[in-house]
Amino acid sequence: MDDADALLDRLRLAGGVPRHVAVIMDGNGRWAARRHLPRPLGHQAGMAAVREVVEGALAAGVEVLTLFAFSRENWQRPPEEIDALMTLLEEYIARERDELRRNGVSVRVLGDLARLGPGARAAVDRIVAETAGGTGLVLNLCISYGSRDEIAQAARALAEEVAAGRLGPADVTAEALAARLWTAPHPDPDLLIRTSGEMRLSNFLLWQLAYAELWVTPVLWPDFTRRDLFEGILEFQRRDRRFGRVPA
Ligand code: IPE
Ligand code: IPE
Ligand code: MG
Repeated sequence: MDDADALLDRLRLAGGVPRHVAVIMDGNGRWAARRHLPRPLGHQAGMAAVREVVEGALAAGVEVLTLFAFSRENWQRPPEEIDALMTLLEEYIARERDELRRNGVSVRVLGDLARLGPGARAAVDRIVAETAGGTGLVLNLCISYGSRDEIAQAARALAEEVAAGRLGPADVTAEALAARLWTAPHPDPDLLIRTSGEMRLSNFLLWQLAYAELWVTPVLWPDFTRRDLFEGILEFQRRDRRFGRVPA
């Protein structure tokens, strides 16, 4: 039995696997720089880690996996890097689509998709349509995603319903807003993983992470394996989640 399988057995025995895991996949550029490679090769190497984390989440019995792949702020990167990332997105979708469907993964894409080029947009629409019936893992890919945008559009949707007279101001509650976020109807993340050691949220799931357990690993994203995911889950299982209450 290899190391990862031993960790998987341990986390299954421990019980209380997080239902929803969110990941800020960071450190591709530094991974490339350490090897004196151009940054896009770091992003390419990161694709293997995406496969690892999806397979690991399936094996562990996670219900929802939300991956931060490209932020709204990432549009400010050099055009060559953005082009490389968009090409990789199309390649990832073309390569993994059938396998994801076979594994019952249902893919959703969260973000401002209007900014994607036609190739990436078509690839995204196709994988969402083709995996829509999946009853296993929900895989949220956050692309051109910004949490403040997401919250603002939820507030706008509520404002429109109030203006139309379908809701009153008193109906604008936390629950009503959460129901209009792109992550609805899924539960909030229980565990947030960020790779590459950075201690910040970078405009990711600001609302939904209110009570998530945070786990930052120094591992750079291209080096991340299912073993790292299982370590993060085991650490989560050792945490004492109080939600503002006193310990039991
Ligand atoms: C994460 O790696 C991938 C994206 C943000 C698209 P980075 O490209 O941010 O890598 P670093 O942080 O520069 O090492
Ligand atoms: C966050 O990483 C976005 C993704 C992982 C897609 P960044 O590398 O863009 O974040 P900052 O700029 O270091 O905060
Ligand atoms: Mg980064």
